Amino acid sequence: MHIYKANLLFTKDSTSFTVIPDGYVAVDSGTIAGVYPRLPDELSGIPVTDYGNKLLIPAMIDVHVHAPQYRNIGIAMDLELLPWLNNYTFPEESKYADTAYAERMYRRFVRDLWRVGTMRTIAFATVHKDSTRLLMRLFEQAGMGALVGKVDMDRNCPVSLRETVADAIRDNEALIAEYAAPDALVRPIITPRFVPSCTPELLQACGELARKHNLPVQSHLSENRNEIAWVHELEPASLHYGDAYRRYGLFGATPTVMAHCVWTAGDELRMMRDNQVMVAHCPTSNFNLASGMAPIRTFLNEGVPVGLGSDISGGHDLSIFKVMVYAIQVSKMQYCQNHHLPFLTLPEAFWIATKSAGRLFGKVGSLEAGYDFDALVIDDSELNHDNYSLLHRLERFIYLGDDRHIVHRFCRGEQIAEPPIA
Ligand code: GUN
Ligand code: FE
Repeated sequence: MHIYKANLLFTKDSTSFTVIPDGYVAVDSGTIAGVYPRLPDELSGIPVTDYGNKLLIPAMIDVHVHAPQYRNIGIAMDLELLPWLNNYTFPEESKYADTAYAERMYRRFVRDLWRVGTMRTIAFATVHKDSTRLLMRLFEQAGMGALVGKVDMDRNCPVSLRETVADAIRDNEALIAEYAAPDALVRPIITPRFVPSCTPELLQACGELARKHNLPVQSHLSENRNEIAWVHELEPASLHYGDAYRRYGLFGATPTVMAHCVWTAGDELRMMRDNQVMVAHCPTSNFNLASGMAPIRTFLNEGVPVGLGSDISGGHDLSIFKVMVYAIQVSKMQYCQNHHLPFLTLPEAFWIATKSAGRLFGKVGSLEAGYDFDALVIDDSELNHDNYSLLHRLERFIYLGDDRHIVHRFCRGEQIAEPPIA
């Protein structure tokens, strides 16, 4: 057992922050045993790490990011989704056939996730088994939690990224066998890229793999209008884009995350709610690829689970703190267009990024008894000029702070050191 003392801020629900000035978190074998405003007598004598006036908050969770697009972060924003994939993204992902290249880039990616305080990540890799395994190893060596997907695709992509259904099954089975423990920090996630790049046979095979091994699923859904029109042509028997996944066992049969859902409404939205499919909200990507504004207020009202994704390199900022800010800002523009849609509050955005997103990892994303101790210690002394309240200090860090202010990082109780890039 170990005890940490600091100013604690977290969101038990979406309505408000719980703020405990000079509070105590007791951690036992990676799990939070209790959170206290004053140290209970029975815990006196247990070692305490005192972080003084610093803030201690849950660590960030990125529920949608493409690790092999890290080289393209912040460039090539001049196209919409489908030509963007063909011109910039697929050529870059093809390079990951080379594991030496993959190692160089993936090390920087994992190091930078560490920097921005993201301790749990749901990542797309590429079709390549060996470089996908490498990414899993790097997360494992770092001690950071991740669901990592070997991407599956067998049509409408360059030959260098195209696999057969048999290859996809074999390579997934190999990785699944190596990462079989259900409570491991790093686990596989079944990852058909999106309907346009997967034949019905491949989608079917992915659904069977997910069910057979009880593994989560991730993909993309209703991001861009040209993409959606194309899916209607490719899948005429499906009611809508989401139904195309459902028909193959990829829409909530096991825990499922769908990125974007910008144009999701009506029956597709109800199907997400009924199957508890999580939306990975990626506002920066939706701006950069001119995809649109996802109806997050409606998702929350209807009870569809939501998390935040950086979606590098459609998105340009790896920090989930900054993605929170964009999520609030886009909701304010939606509110300007329709006053029946109240904009997101800061506690809502924080809750979405932590406790709501964390359900994909078990009990993760809050400072409550029974949760994994995933936390960041923030030294905002340089930002805290005027005796702000603890809530204003956190808000200012979220809007103006960066990795220089994150002084300690914990994942499942372990303090996580900077992962080496070489
Ligand atoms: N849809 C299919 N692949 C991708 C991708 O790599 N990024 C985004 N934003 N959308 C996609
Ligand atoms: Fe994506």
